[in-house]
Amino acid sequence: MKIGFLQFNPFFGKVDENLIKVEILINKIRCDLLVLPELFNTGYTFKSKDEVLKLSESVPSGKTIRFLKRISSEKNMSIVGGFVERNGKKVYNSSILYCENGEYYVYRKKHLYRYEKNYFDTSNEPYRVFTIKNGVKIGLIVCFDWIFPEVIRKLSLLGAQIICHSANLVMPYCQDAMITRALENRVFIITANRTGIEKRGRFYNGFTGMSQIVSPEGRILSKAGEGDELVSVVNINASVALNKFITPLNNIFDDRQIDMY
Ligand code: ACM
Repeated sequence: MKIGFLQFNPFFGKVDENLIKVEILINKIRCDLLVLPELFNTGYTFKSKDEVLKLSESVPSGKTIRFLKRISSEKNMSIVGGFVERNGKKVYNSSILYCENGEYYVYRKKHLYRYEKNYFDTSNEPYRVFTIKNGVKIGLIVCFDWIFPEVIRKLSLLGAQIICHSANLVMPYCQDAMITRALENRVFIITANRTGIEKRGRFYNGFTGMSQIVSPEGRILSKAGEGDELVSVVNINASVALNKFITPLNNIFDDRQIDMY
């Protein structure tokens, strides 16, 4: 199957322009599963909760959600991307998976980074994996979730073969760490990061780009540069992630000594 990431520099607060930019970038690609960055439609550096609320969308009626539904159907692919989700009085930093058959699933970021704690709610919904075409199982995480090894371990134990990681990374550690996360769980990881800088009032963020796809053997199958705006697609055999043996005598899940940790 073909899996990919899209990396770009969104315009802060300009949802229409960002959706157009994404559509232009994916115009020519063919893919089964494409991951977009965290908050790809709005940008990241909010100055107030008011701004967050103004840019929030409900599922499934929001403009970005309808856009992802249309794209997944037109391009016959599953697509994952981050947005500000409004649900009643709650606001989440969420990621949605839309499948070509119209099914969707929302993941609400559990580990909020820095000022996100002032703006977003967290959710205690259990982790889930989702089956896309050809029976491939995927799990969703959002940016800073990566630093907690339990998250990808949990999704992998639930059967995820591919981790879809929508990100707006600002620290320099994640891309290297994901090689280990992929290897220790024997899963594919697609990190779709954004690029560019945002300076808004007293808030500044510089995003690290370098989106990547890592294999269950910890090999980097594709990696973007720091400032690239592009889509990258690679061919994988997702069933490789079902094999948890790292030597003929070592199964990385069965060999754990859970009682001792
Ligand atoms: C982050 O979680 N967006 C750094």
